[in-house]
Amino acid sequence: MKILAIETSCDETAVAIVEDGRKVLANIIASQIDLHAKTGGVVPEIAAREHVLKMIPVLDEALVRADTDWDDIDALAITKGPGLVSSLIIGTETANVISYVKQKPLIPVHHILGHVYSNWLDSEDEIKFPLIILTVSGGHNELILMRGHGDFEVLGETRDDAAGEAFDKVARILDLGYPGGPAISKISLNGNPGAFKLPRAMLEKGSLDFSFSGLKTAVLTEAKKYDKNFKADLAASFQEAVVEVLAAKLFLAYEKFSTTRELHLAGGVSANTRLREIITEKLSKKIKFRYPKSLSYCTDNAAMIGAAGYFMYSQNPKKFPPCSNIIPSTSFEIA
Ligand code: KG4
Ligand code: ZN
Repeated sequence: MKILAIETSCDETAVAIVEDGRKVLANIIASQIDLHAKTGGVVPEIAAREHVLKMIPVLDEALVRADTDWDDIDALAITKGPGLVSSLIIGTETANVISYVKQKPLIPVHHILGHVYSNWLDSEDEIKFPLIILTVSGGHNELILMRGHGDFEVLGETRDDAAGEAFDKVARILDLGYPGGPAISKISLNGNPGAFKLPRAMLEKGSLDFSFSGLKTAVLTEAKKYDKNFKADLAASFQEAVVEVLAAKLFLAYEKFSTTRELHLAGGVSANTRLREIITEKLSKKIKFRYPKSLSYCTDNAAMIGAAGYFMYSQNPKKFPPCSNIIPSTSFEIA
């Protein structure tokens, strides 16, 4: 089954064509990074206008890249939210119109569910349930127990800043540019992660929630004390504090749900090499650890929406008729 998926929740205009939830036939992403680098973050109105300009060319390019046409597409999947409403609406309206004109089933996908399914993309072996997934992005941070397709329990989430948001804000404090994650990751290679003593917010005993705003404030306090030559050390110390907490919470969840067969990582921050490394160091042999097979599947993309859409559709095709008029949703409720 071929699904054409559209994702416009923030600052990427993305269209993908995915076969049977795993095989990526096209994954086109028009990034607006250069546009938003000037303002150090996403300006919603500018993002929305850019989606309008890019949507049709990106759609066309996906069809060409997949060497397919509309008759070959079995269904559409669309990110319904959460995200910037003015960005989401460009995607949902495009999908609504195509679904109406071409009479294709339309599957609305929760953005975080999309990230969850990014680990199915290009996977060759069978993914085994139950699994625990840590989704770490700019807008969200969740620990989810997945017992099967459509069977999710949110074990923990961020109480303030998401991990990616903390990376972006600290990069701004250190004047490293936007987006912050890759910049901090790069400069940290030349820094000493033990140079600064920064807090690790573990919250109440046993809590699987996250909080990164205190860490961000601690970085700001330290940054004000120095003139120069501190950035690499402070960035590395910050990164270490974030990844230690993320890894600790993932393993705490694993301790609580010890029948778990796989541990997964997804979302923009899953591109972070140090995070992957620290989790790999703590792994026992009996558990499988996965993160997205390509960097382009970590950050926002439409292929993950196509994968999630496929598994949702497979469970109950009748639920997704053509022209169901999807409107953006801002709810973080994944289930
Ligand atoms: O999943 P994503 O593309 O968008 C949201 O759904 O929010 O995640 C974007 C976030 C940004 O905050 C960015 O700084 C972060 O992912 N990011 C990284 C890395 N690459 C992207 N954070 C840490 N290390 C990276 N290598
Ligand atoms: Zn995302």
